[in-house]
Amino acid sequence: MFNIGSYDERIKDFNWSISEQELGYKPGSVINIGWYCSDRLCEMGGADKPALIWEGFGGKEKQYTFNDVRLASNTIGTFLRELGIRDEDRVCIFLDRNPELYLSFVGILKIGAIAQPLFSAFGDESLHVRLENAETKAIITQKKHVSKVRKIRDSLPHLEHIIVVDYDGKRPLQEREVAFSLETATPVESLEIFPTHAESPSVLHYTSGTTGQPKGVKHVHYSLISQYLTAKWVLDLKEDDIYWCTADPGWVTGTSYGIIGPWSMGITQCVLDSGFSAEAWYRFIEKNRVTVWYSAPTAIRSLMKAGDEVVAQFDLSSLRHLASVGEPLNSEAVIWSEKVFGKAFLDTYWQTETGSMMISNYPGMRIKPGSMGKPFPGITAAVLDPNTHEPITETGRIGLIAFKPGWPAMMRTYWNNEATYQSKFVNDWYLSGDRASIDPEGYFWFTGRDDDVINTGGHLVSPFEVESALLEHEAVAESAVVAKPDEVNMEVVKAFVVINPEFEAGGDLELKIMNFIRKRLSPLAMPQEIEYVDSLPKTRSGKIMRRLLHAQEWGEEIGDISTLEDDDA
Ligand code: WT7
Repeated sequence: MFNIGSYDERIKDFNWSISEQELGYKPGSVINIGWYCSDRLCEMGGADKPALIWEGFGGKEKQYTFNDVRLASNTIGTFLRELGIRDEDRVCIFLDRNPELYLSFVGILKIGAIAQPLFSAFGDESLHVRLENAETKAIITQKKHVSKVRKIRDSLPHLEHIIVVDYDGKRPLQEREVAFSLETATPVESLEIFPTHAESPSVLHYTSGTTGQPKGVKHVHYSLISQYLTAKWVLDLKEDDIYWCTADPGWVTGTSYGIIGPWSMGITQCVLDSGFSAEAWYRFIEKNRVTVWYSAPTAIRSLMKAGDEVVAQFDLSSLRHLASVGEPLNSEAVIWSEKVFGKAFLDTYWQTETGSMMISNYPGMRIKPGSMGKPFPGITAAVLDPNTHEPITETGRIGLIAFKPGWPAMMRTYWNNEATYQSKFVNDWYLSGDRASIDPEGYFWFTGRDDDVINTGGHLVSPFEVESALLEHEAVAESAVVAKPDEVNMEVVKAFVVINPEFEAGGDLELKIMNFIRKRLSPLAMPQEIEYVDSLPKTRSGKIMRRLLHAQEWGEEIGDISTLEDDDA
């Protein structure tokens, strides 16, 4: 039997109090995600159950029970408190996917501070804008990444502490740096948990938009109510499951469903912190007897590319349930997974902003490969007419995906940017920025984004950020960045560049530009191609028409240019 029972039954009279009751939360009382992910499970008799099975490069392994998570998070929480970290202070986690990442996330939440996880492959510039915006007080990092923090700390007056979790004493620590090792610290048996309430801030995730700097999406402790129940009903997690979420907690999937959802349910999860290869992934599933697997379309397409023969070399019979998120899951990938794993990947759709799954395929519900499925119970979703912002009633017509605000995990604002947050709402609807249509049976079909943001391998890239990096190079006079089609990543970044007259295209100019921007951008945002052009298409007021270049790349009809020219919003 599936946890959700029947979707059609669940959507009748749905109420989030179902989740509140299961979690023993009474409205108005204390709710602390850190406590729910550790202490509560121990109190319920799960102290000795494995919480985390971790594997790093070279097959190095570590295991932690829920009691270990409780103790380690107490220890980290106490250490942070002694440094002077207080509730609502921002603590950035800038670590590879090692156990300290997961354990410090829980510890930060326990003391009421705000966890700000950032992808460890970010370069110093990417790190800088996010720490500056959040006025982050402490950063937890490792030797490997500390040099990036050193480069920027002088212009970050709020950054008081740089905590190094694997300090080996070989080189002296520098100003503001302090060593902390879970292995040598005395475990702290009891920690006074900060009494956070429903609306107390919990997690700050940065996400890229079309214009401006990345936005800090502010979540609150009450998000647990959504994350717990969606993990239970959509991922169908059960007591004995071994769950693998392949996402890095630098992104919301890796926290909502790589920490909070599964751990609040007391589920054992495993983490693989090594590079991608089909063999390594299948071996990991085989070795850990993974039962529930939450991954992303680009990974699935890469596995597809590696071929069916590789699958046959491993015993993957433990797999019971597969789900996917982050980008359109094409029907070929769904059909392929059903063929080789005997289970179809079920697509789920949501965003950093929504905090939890919004539209999904549910265990037991008929899947239509290529469709994102139906709204989670309690979620009011619609596609709106782009002009009137009224829900489209006829089926099959494409509109803007929108949600009625009010589910527990919805972002509460963009950090320091309330105006942009407000701009996401029209007529009482939250606009996702994506487009879709709805079929006669109520299934949603994703058609694309409503803005210029590029989704490469499930990671959002702001064309503005890439263009700005390019413009800093002396040879670049103008630039426009759009997505171009790619077999595995669906979209990759392509840059159009007008060069200054004193420079010449060709030679090693492209290499020089690439090396220059590499220092400023996340590796995921790097263009795969630079095309030199004499000029860029612009609106009358001088705004670059990315959509025209985009249409060219995708071989699409360019459509009515006059509307594009007036489109200066
Ligand atoms: C954007 C959100 C929330 C998980 C990770 C992404 C795209 C997400 C799907 C899907 C088609 C999808 C949308 C969305 N997206 N899931 N199942 N099918 N597109 O979080 O970085 O905030 O990105 O990813 O465009 O708006 P994110």
